[in-house]
Parts: sequence; structure tokens; C-alpha cells
Amino acid sequence: MKINIITIDGPAGSGKGKIAKYVAKKWKLKHLDSGIFYRRIAYIISKKKINPINKITIKILINDIDQISSQKNKILRSEKISNIASIIAEYKFVRDFVNTQQKLTIKKSKNKNGFVIDGRDIGSVVFKNASIKLYIDVDVNIRAKRRHKQLIDMGEKSIYPQILKDIKLRDKKDKSRKNSPLVIPEGAYVVDNSSKFSITQNQLNIIIGKYINGKY
Ligand code: DC
Repeated sequence: MKINIITIDGPAGSGKGKIAKYVAKKWKLKHLDSGIFYRRIAYIISKKKINPINKITIKILINDIDQISSQKNKILRSEKISNIASIIAEYKFVRDFVNTQQKLTIKKSKNKNGFVIDGRDIGSVVFKNASIKLYIDVDVNIRAKRRHKQLIDMGEKSIYPQILKDIKLRDKKDKSRKNSPLVIPEGAYVVDNSSKFSITQNQLNIIIGKYINGKY
């Protein structure tokens, strides 16, 4: 049976993770959050007190890692880890490593139905031949408000203007970096996930149902 791959790309705080989880549950697919890999590397860098701009040390560190876990963990969601992840995601050797890890995870998985993978370059670079590609977008102010609330709920200190500034900076980095910038992948369905125009579950299921084994 053909493995279905659904890619969901979009900027920080667009809600792509939530949509990915919903799609995975509905269609019995496995959810892979590619950002976790960048966050895990950022976490190791932070623990080892390596300066994220020190490419040589990070390269040595990565060369020593065989496999990195795709397990989610609350500690990977802090603002500090987000900022380090955003810096190292610019390095080509880090991106190559993460892309290999994603492919390895899929190869080793026993799930035969397929995967829904979310990130920044999944439909444009990593899985260009995916069955369905979605690109989720939301106004930056709404994203910053959501992120602010998320941090407060997690018990972290959060100052809204600072969060807005951080998100704008991360957006700029994501969209302007030389290696795999955040773009709308060719052939992607663009979804505005701001509350007013949010895609309905029904619309999403119609799009996906057409592809998944003709079940819809
Ligand atoms: O989606 P996220 O916020 O968990 O991603 C964490 C960081 O990793 C973010 O700075 C963007 C980067 N990232 C990326 O460059 N490419 C991906 N496919 C996924 C994440």
C-alpha cells in the first residue's frame, strides 16, 4: 500500500501542530513534528552551554549523534530553546541532519497508513512529492497573542511586546534564510487559520479524503 504523506508548513504559532494532530487522529496517520528535531538539538546546545553561533562546535556535536528522538517534551517549548532553534535552523548541516532523521523515522515506523508532518520546509524541500500539502497562515499579532497565552499557561514569564518582537524576528529568519526558507510549497492549499477565516474540519476532510485510499 502506498504511504500517504501530508505536509503542513507555516510560520511559528500558526496552529499547524494542532491541525496536524487533528488530521493524524482522523485519518489514522502518524504525526511527526519536524520542529522537535531542531528544538532537541537546541536543547543539547543549551545544556552544554555552547554558543549557538559557534558552527564548528555544533557541527562536531551533530557528527556524534546517530539518532535523535522525535518525542515531544514541554521543556523543548521554552522561549530560550525557540530562539536557539531558530538560529541553528539556518545552518545547512543542521538541516541536512534533521532531514535525514525525518526520513529515518518514517522508514523505521510500523505505521503503514502514512504520516502527517509539520514544519517550515516539508512540502517545499523534504517531501516534495507529498500526497497533499497545506500551508497555514495567521496574522502575526494573533500568533503573538496565542504564543503569549501558551507561555503564561506553561508558567513561563511572558511580556507581550517582547513575544511579538521575537515572533517577527523568527519569521524574518525563517523566510529570508538561504537554506530552505519558509515558502508556500508548489501545489499547496493555503489555509488562513485566523479565527475569522479558519478552515473548517469538514473542508479539511474533503481535501484529505479525496486522497487517502479513496475512502472519502
Ligand atoms: O515549528 P517550531 O516552532 O517547533 O520550530 C522550531 C524551529 O525550527 C523554528 O525556528 C523553525 C525551525 N524549523 C525549520 O526551520 N524547519 C522545519 N521543518 C521545522 C522547524
